[in-house]
Amino acid sequence: MSIPLYPFAEPRSLPEPLRLVLLGATGSIGEQTLDLVRRFPDRLKLTAVAVNQRWEDLARLLGDLEPLVSVGDPAARDAAAGAGVFGDRLLPGADATALAAAAEGDVLVNGIVGAAGLAPTLAAAARGWRIALANKESLVVGGNLVSAAVIAGGAEMLPVDSEHSALAQCLRGRRREDLDRVVLTASGGPFRETPAHQLANVTLEEVLNHPTWDMGPKITVDSATLMNKGLEIIEAHHLFGLDYADIDVVVHPGSWVHSLVVLRDGALLAQLGMPDMRLPLLYAITGEQRWPLPGERLDLLEVGRLEFEAPDTERFPCLRLAREAGEKGGTAPITLNAANEVAVAALLDRRILYADLPGLVSSALDRLPAAPVADLQAALAADGEARRVTLELLTDHDGTPTLRGNL
Ligand SMILES: NC(=O)c1ccc[n+]([C@@H]2O[C@H](COP(=O)([O-])OP(=O)(O)OC[C@H]3O[C@@H](n4cnc5c(N)ncnc54)[C@H](OP(=O)(O)O)[C@@H]3O)[C@@H](O)[C@H]2O)c1
Repeated sequence: MSIPLYPFAEPRSLPEPLRLVLLGATGSIGEQTLDLVRRFPDRLKLTAVAVNQRWEDLARLLGDLEPLVSVGDPAARDAAAGAGVFGDRLLPGADATALAAAAEGDVLVNGIVGAAGLAPTLAAAARGWRIALANKESLVVGGNLVSAAVIAGGAEMLPVDSEHSALAQCLRGRRREDLDRVVLTASGGPFRETPAHQLANVTLEEVLNHPTWDMGPKITVDSATLMNKGLEIIEAHHLFGLDYADIDVVVHPGSWVHSLVVLRDGALLAQLGMPDMRLPLLYAITGEQRWPLPGERLDLLEVGRLEFEAPDTERFPCLRLAREAGEKGGTAPITLNAANEVAVAALLDRRILYADLPGLVSSALDRLPAAPVADLQAALAADGEARRVTLELLTDHDGTPTLRGNL
């Protein structure tokens, strides 16, 4: 099932100022959303924000903005309440899902990282809001559930990922039947040119050194393994109702072409721009209007050449693992995502090496055969089980040099 309203129908027109609920306000997406709120003070009104732990950073980032505040982690929430910085704007006992169910809003930006973003997405869908979705894991873990909730709630969903935003911009106003396939572009990450035998020795610092985008740590690791592009394949499948066979990936090191669509007459349409997430963010928040956004413009003469190459799934097996998990469906993408989240955390903790990560995800997928997913409870149970199994694999792994066995 896909989300039928989008992008093959006009987004609804909402009165200004748009009331904005922002989840993940302390993150990379969150900070860029706050930048937009400050640039358009008469057109965007921030009504509520959610973070997990970093309430002190939130207080600094909000400055004179005064939304309702949710701090998800109970210990951090108690500390924030004790410090009194948010006064009675701090909601007692409310996590991001409760905030999405209770706050006033028109548009919700979901900038939470990981599967924790799914339940708030479903809550926003039930409110009938426009959802500007950065949290691609919502669709990876619960794509069918989200689609059903968006339809049942009369909500709208617009992607924030620059690739899917590009596809949406190229598809806007077109007929579904005119679309042949889509092409997601990938920067290739920091190891695009690194020979296979050297990947065993790369450092965490090199992993985190993304060539074109400045993002949070998890998506930066995902970009280095190309898992991010794999998750985006699954995201595109759910957003646009595409068969996996109709979603291609091409490496484009410059990150200027954000993605392309191929129509059935052979026309190939692309959206180009600087690597700046504020454009797709604003496009999703406003429902595809074109508010004037200051910033650097892409200079084609400076770019000179656009280069493309095929992705290498031998050196970057996560891309293949994600596509296969998406094709299998059911709990397979949930397992893929949960194992990846555990593995990324272990890599950031220096507990595993970059080269160990694909093997860990692949072993978790081998251990847990795909099963159907009926509802959110089933999705969360599968997520929990995959985390448990991956942590077990990690414990087995500690002390051994690599975990590359199953590829
Ligand atoms: N960054 C980008 O340019 C970019 C581009 C495209 C797509 N995305 C997607 O956008 C999402 C966010 O990425 P990011 O790079 O912005 O991540 P990030 O910088 O790591 O920020 C994550 C945010 O999520 C919050 N959070 C985590 N768990 C939460 C929970 N249970 N309840 C409430 N808040 C929670 C964090 O709060 P604390 O600070 O309190 O921990 C933080 O504000 C990811 O799905 C990513 O794939 C990001």
